[in-house]
Amino acid sequence: MTKPKKVGILTAGGDCPGLNAAIRGIGKTAIIEYGMEVIGFNAGFTGLIEKDYIPLKESALSGILTLGGTILGTSREKPYRYSKKDGNNEKPEQIKRNYHELGLDALVCIGGNGTMDTANKLSQEGLNIVGIPKTIDNDVWGTDVTFGFDSALLIATEAIDRLHTTANSHHRVMIIEVMGHHAGWIALYAGLAGGGDIILIPEIKYDIRSICQCIEDRYKNNKPYSIIVAAEGINHPEEESAARYIAGAIQIYTGKETRETVLGYVQRGGSPSPMDRILATRYGSYAAQCVAEGNFGKMVAIKNNELITIPLSEVKNKTRNVDKNLPMILKAKEMGISFGDGSIKKK
Ligand code: F6P
Repeated sequence: MTKPKKVGILTAGGDCPGLNAAIRGIGKTAIIEYGMEVIGFNAGFTGLIEKDYIPLKESALSGILTLGGTILGTSREKPYRYSKKDGNNEKPEQIKRNYHELGLDALVCIGGNGTMDTANKLSQEGLNIVGIPKTIDNDVWGTDVTFGFDSALLIATEAIDRLHTTANSHHRVMIIEVMGHHAGWIALYAGLAGGGDIILIPEIKYDIRSICQCIEDRYKNNKPYSIIVAAEGINHPEEESAARYIAGAIQIYTGKETRETVLGYVQRGGSPSPMDRILATRYGSYAAQCVAEGNFGKMVAIKNNELITIPLSEVKNKTRNVDKNLPMILKAKEMGISFGDGSIKKK
């Protein structure tokens, strides 16, 4: 294969801190090391479908390392999702047509599970694709960590730290709901880092009675307040947030004053943490190397701090959930931290 000369970049799915660091890593490496031309598609796959793109000269990549969000914008467009109301789904053909008309040699797709699924389909249809795993949820299969996770962890942990003082002052139960989609990584790590007394994740089935018993026991042990960290993906009625549901149950069954905080989108905002800047840059630079070497149909990943690539076909349609038997969970239980399943040692 001749040396790739022109590479496209897109950012898709939920935004997160670090996206611009990744774009910068790809672009600077491609331009400076490999002499490539780089373009960026606006609003994820929508930009590719509509041929809506900007040239990314090296000058455009300066000053974005620390910038939150994505200079390219993003969308949750899923080109292969077919709905009868749209009639024939021409989007995949449009993407392939635009890819070739623009003279692209490769496309780097930065995103989460859904993006990697689309990237795999485009790769199967003959486009030269490299994926980069991104999401605050940290639930992309095949890599130890996605960029965006550390920044969300930092934000959630700081919020939990702040809840301790108000819970203590009012002798209240404070529940904070964090993001994570169907995985509990943010809740687990922020719960441990923030000193949560009860951590609720989708991967461990909780029991309201066990949660209430833990709160009552803490009161009896002169700990008249509790901090509960709940992942948004835990089981709860659709009509109310997980935090509201748990708070309501605690108030009814224990009579203890309970307040909830749904942390929401602040977990996705602002400047990336130093670790996310480094990880996103490493992913981006390595993705440019994969393009230069013709290593396509792959997602860049990190295992034991070493950069590797894995086939997109292995990543698609998978979610990396928390293993409930993780040593850090077993140790937390030994320290008396509850996961709502009644399995901590009785005092
Ligand atoms: O995937 C990242 C994420 O923030 C999830 O944690 C959350 O459930 C979802 O996106 C929210 O989606 P949207 O940005 O479309 O509201």
